Amino acid sequence: MITTEKKKNRSALQQEIKELARQKNALILAHYYQYPEIQEIADFVGDSLDLSRKAKAADKEIIVFAGVKFMAETAKILNPNRKVLLPDLAAGCSLADNCPPDKFAEFVAAHPGHTVVTYINCSAEIKAMSDIICTSSNAVNIVASLPADKPIIFAPDANLGRYVMKQTGGQLVLWNGACVVHEAFSIEKLVKLMTDHPTARLVAHPESETHILDIADFVGSTRKMIDFIKSGKNDTYIVATEAGILHQMQLEAPGKTLLAAPSHEDNSCACSECAFMKVNTLEKLYRSLLNETPAIELSPELIKKAVLPLEKMLQFT
Ligand code: 13P
Ligand code: SF4
Repeated sequence: MITTEKKKNRSALQQEIKELARQKNALILAHYYQYPEIQEIADFVGDSLDLSRKAKAADKEIIVFAGVKFMAETAKILNPNRKVLLPDLAAGCSLADNCPPDKFAEFVAAHPGHTVVTYINCSAEIKAMSDIICTSSNAVNIVASLPADKPIIFAPDANLGRYVMKQTGGQLVLWNGACVVHEAFSIEKLVKLMTDHPTARLVAHPESETHILDIADFVGSTRKMIDFIKSGKNDTYIVATEAGILHQMQLEAPGKTLLAAPSHEDNSCACSECAFMKVNTLEKLYRSLLNETPAIELSPELIKKAVLPLEKMLQFT
C-alpha cells in the first residue's frame, strides 16, 4: 500500500486525500509552516489562535491536524468528542519539549501567588497547570488585562515574555525556553540583507530574539504578519519566521517581493525551517487518514483541567 502510494504524483495523492477526507467526514487543519502541498489541500490554514477556534467549532467526526503535537492536543482538549489525528507523533516543538511538567510544577510552587500565563506552545499537562493560555497574537493584550498587583509567571517562551514585558511595561517571571527556529536568525546577515534592500521592511514573529524584534518594522503572529504585508505599501519584505509561511504570504500578497530572514547556519537557501513541522508529509497525512492513526489520546481528567485556561483565552478574544 505505502509503496504504491509513494508512486502517485503529488496532485493525485492530494485528490485521494480530499476524497478520503470526504468519505470519512474529516476536517483537515494546517498551520502556515506546513509544506505548500499540505496547505493546498487543507480545509483551513491558520495561526495557532485561528486553528484553535476552528478545532473547537469542528462538527466533522475526524480532525486531521497538519501541525505539531501541542496544536493537535489543543484541538482534542477543545473538542474531545472528535477523533484528532496527527500524521506523525514526532511533530514536537522545542518550546513544548523543554518545559517538562515535573520541572514546571516545581517552578510554579517556587513562585506562590503568581498568575500563570502560558503560551499555547506547551503540552496538555502544562496547560492544566496554567491560569490562562495565550498565543503570539493575544499575549500582550492578555497580560495587560491582568490585575497589576498580582505577579505573573510567563512560560515557556522567554523571548515572547521579554517582548510582552516591553509592550506592557510590566514585570514577568520567565521560564527560560526558546524556539530553535526563531533563535537561529543571524543579526549580521540580516543587517546585510536590509542594507542590500534599503526599501524592504522587516516583519518578525515575537518568538525571535530581542535584537531582531528591536529592529523590526512589525511584530506579530503568523496571521498578523501576512495581514501586515498584504496591506503594506512597500514592495519588499524580509520575513523573520519559519519559511513555510512564504507560501501563503505570496498567495495573499502576489505583487510583493518576500525574502526569508537568514539564519546562522544556512548559506544555501537562507531560510529557516522547523524540523518538527516538516515531519508531516502528504504521504503521512494520507496514511494517517486511511488508518485513523496516530490519534491524540488524553485522559478525561487532564482535558477537564487543561480546557479551563484555553476557554479563558478564547473568551478573552
Ligand atoms: P503562530 O500562532 O503565530 O502561528 O505561531 C505558532 C508557532 O509555532 C510559531 O513558531
Ligand atoms: Fe515550536 Fe519553533 Fe517549530 Fe513553532 S517554529 S513549532 S515554536 S519549534
